[in-house]
Amino acid sequence: MTQQEREEAVTDEVVASFAGTKDERLREIVQSLTRHLHAFARDVRLTQEEWEAGIGFLTRVGHTTDDKRQEFILLSDVLGLSMLTVGINAPASPGATESTVFGPFFVEGAPEVPIGGDIARGAKGTPCRVTGSVRSTDGSPLAGARIEVWEADEDGFYDVQYDGDRSAGRGWLRSGADGEYAFWSVRPSPYPIPDDGPVGDLLAATGRGPMRPAHLHFKVDAPGHRTLITHVFAAGDPYLEHDAVFGVKESLVVDFAEHPAGAAPDGRVLDTAWTSLNFDIVLEARP
Ligand code: BEZ
Ligand code: FE
Repeated sequence: MTQQEREEAVTDEVVASFAGTKDERLREIVQSLTRHLHAFARDVRLTQEEWEAGIGFLTRVGHTTDDKRQEFILLSDVLGLSMLTVGINAPASPGATESTVFGPFFVEGAPEVPIGGDIARGAKGTPCRVTGSVRSTDGSPLAGARIEVWEADEDGFYDVQYDGDRSAGRGWLRSGADGEYAFWSVRPSPYPIPDDGPVGDLLAATGRGPMRPAHLHFKVDAPGHRTLITHVFAAGDPYLEHDAVFGVKESLVVDFAEHPAGAAPDGRVLDTAWTSLNFDIVLEARP
């Protein structure tokens, strides 16, 4: 047997060992995973020391993960696997709002606000009025859609990254009769993904940065439609071209308008400069 034949025999034997898997999809996944993992090891001619370093790295990723921090998802994010999966499962309908990564900072049970309410609740930053509509891809307005939003404050931290259990910079509301929505929050800021663990070490070792461009997260649900998980990004942000998790899509980059202190269109009077943005959301009907 040649060296190549010996190596391929190992792969064939492992693939064959999964042949009896009853669940067809599971069989497809584990056999394909085996082929690709083995091809990777052959491709880089993986040494024993490198195999050990890889196991050590994944062990640290596991030890860093708990119910507050998901280092495996972060690893998937910086490897682009999260965005590749989003892309593979993208809506088929042209015109639907594009998705992006979910990220680790969504929290169940955020407070509900009425249309026009303020989700900042003490999050630091320049006030920002967000308006838009929720529609189906056929153009019909979606009343009563549930819109969840969350974001980092001007120092680049989510509420859950501070001590205590204060909820700030997050909330949810329902769209009105014409699909319209509006809320106040703060202008989002760029921030680093958590980089004090093994994923941060990987970024440092490979000369990559941890920064994400300023963004506001949305999760939108309406009956009969696919759930949308996305962000809006601020046009002009210096990190749009270098998002640590590859989440930027051109259609999600919007202009934030700047306004001097004074009255906003909804009657709120601000004693500081403020910003606004419009983001119209289009959901894909479920087949
Ligand atoms: C976020 O945008 O919240 C996020 C996404 C991926 C990794 C870390 C943070
Ligand atoms: Fe985020």
